[in-house]
Amino acid sequence: MSKYLGVVFAFILAISFASTGVASADGASLWKSKKCKNCHKMTAKKKVGPGLAGVTKRRSEAWLLKWLQDPQGTWAANDAETQELKKWAKGADKRKKTKMKTPKISEAEAKELIAYMKANGG
Ligand code: HEC
Repeated sequence: MSKYLGVVFAFILAISFASTGVASADGASLWKSKKCKNCHKMTAKKKVGPGLAGVTKRRSEAWLLKWLQDPQGTWAANDAETQELKKWAKGADKRKKTKMKTPKISEAEAKELIAYMKANGG
């Protein structure tokens, strides 16, 4: 019986390792397929958009989830965190629209992307 439990435990461990492996690989491929890479660096350096170094610390998880799924709507809703973002570039606060355009992102994909940014200094 205890031998059997050991096997079951090893199996569960193997599955959890395998799934975390898949999760980070997903984040990296989403980073490319959702075009993030075209406009952002994970350093403090600007590209088309702000450098994303430390972004998961300066913005809340809830805001990031909203932003990634609906940048235009979040920009228009103009909550406190969006107002902070609007200070990133001169004149950004005057724009009616954000320049961030991505393919459609689901909530699950947004979570993957946030985890990916967090794991890479973002
Ligand atoms: C077409 C260029 C473009 C693409 C593609 C793009 N972004 Fe952005 N992103 C921007 C711009 C520009 C801003 C700042 C808002 C503005 O000035 O309109 C921004 C803002 C952000 C912010 C907020 C930064 C902060 O300091 O609060 C995050 C987080 C972010 N983008 C993540 C992503 C992720 C993840 C992807 C891929 C799913 C992505 N962006 C794709 C241009 C882009």
